Amino acid sequence: MASTYDLPGFVWNKATELTDGVYRVGVNIEDPDYLFEGLWPIPDGTSINGYAVRGEKKAIIDLTQILFDFPDRYTKQLEEIGFPLEDVDYVIINHLEPDHAGFLPVMAKVNSKTKFYCTPKAVPGIQAFASIPLDRIVEVNDGDTLDLGAGKVLQFFHAPNVHWPEVMVTFEQSSGVLFTCDAFGSYGRVDEVFDDQISDAKQEWYIQEAERYYANIVAKFSRFVVRAIDKLAPLVPQISMICPSHGIVWRSKKDKIIDAYIRLAKYADGPAEPEVTVIWGSMYGYTKQMVDRVIEGLHSEGVKVHVYRVPKDDVGYVLGSAWRSSGLVLAMPTYEYRMFPPMAHVLDDFGRKEVKRKKVLRVGGFGWSGGASKEFSNLTAGLEWDCLPEVEWQGHASPEVLQKGYEAARELARQVKAYALK
Ligand code: FEO
Repeated sequence: MASTYDLPGFVWNKATELTDGVYRVGVNIEDPDYLFEGLWPIPDGTSINGYAVRGEKKAIIDLTQILFDFPDRYTKQLEEIGFPLEDVDYVIINHLEPDHAGFLPVMAKVNSKTKFYCTPKAVPGIQAFASIPLDRIVEVNDGDTLDLGAGKVLQFFHAPNVHWPEVMVTFEQSSGVLFTCDAFGSYGRVDEVFDDQISDAKQEWYIQEAERYYANIVAKFSRFVVRAIDKLAPLVPQISMICPSHGIVWRSKKDKIIDAYIRLAKYADGPAEPEVTVIWGSMYGYTKQMVDRVIEGLHSEGVKVHVYRVPKDDVGYVLGSAWRSSGLVLAMPTYEYRMFPPMAHVLDDFGRKEVKRKKVLRVGGFGWSGGASKEFSNLTAGLEWDCLPEVEWQGHASPEVLQKGYEAARELARQVKAYALK
């Protein structure tokens, strides 16, 4: 019986030479049913990028996943650019997550002499995931270099918790190419490798895809993102390209993705964009009536509004929007003395991803007795939200209650505008 992954949708294009002796290899994931991390929908796909650097010695960086024919296709791509596995001298492990490091056991088996370079933190993980013996692993300190000969020198910078503990980035000194693994990555399949091969509008699309990617997998670790960016700041004038393990290579507009990440990391401290994300669920339309009035109130104050319905809209999208918004409206009824369940799921994820320091309005109805309010307080207790008085009612909302919701939304919008990043 065919598995889900037997569907078409994994496209291996030809390897690209990024600059003299530096290559990108990789696969586009275009299967609409694929879930990133097994969690996040990516209807427009993503890419898994690996890289290769040739000096007198050969190094490969950020490998690939073990899925279907990935090992064969990845191996073939490397052969086409003159990197047969048995000739690879060094494997650089920026990050151990299996979408990149899944290939490690194959590599270790095919080539018995190659050395595996990683941070000290990565060593137990490499053994756990790939059973590579210690004498084949080289621990690198922050700033260490590896001379490949012919002018190519790799330098390693630890970037812990972006987004796993063992992460590092690798800089090729002669070309100025920075291999950042997940950092500066995005969703979205890659048809043209470089930013300057696509329109400004398409670049913006990748930035938007980067925002959702960030909210889904990196946001919780924003303070570590700030530390990593600060550490790498002196390097920026020398950087010619940013090569992430997902998404396009940023060359002419590298500031665009750096600035986007700086801004995304800042959202963790509270003020974000002067926008409001409305997340709502309604059983019979009574809460929806209030949502419509709330949205009117927000619009009357001129703030940008994003609307998501749960459970119809996936929480991955809700997270992306909530992360960039300074204000949130949560609208849900009580259900069996507790909160409408899909909203509880959203709030649980907000807690896990640390969607903190927002201006918030909760609205919602109940049938016989409340319960959503109490669960809302419990689920959001650690998020440091500044909540307006909630608007709650029994049965259908009267015109007076709807007006109260409208006015509360206007007040929320005013607070958001005063609070947001300028
Ligand atoms: Fe793309 Fe954290 O792996």
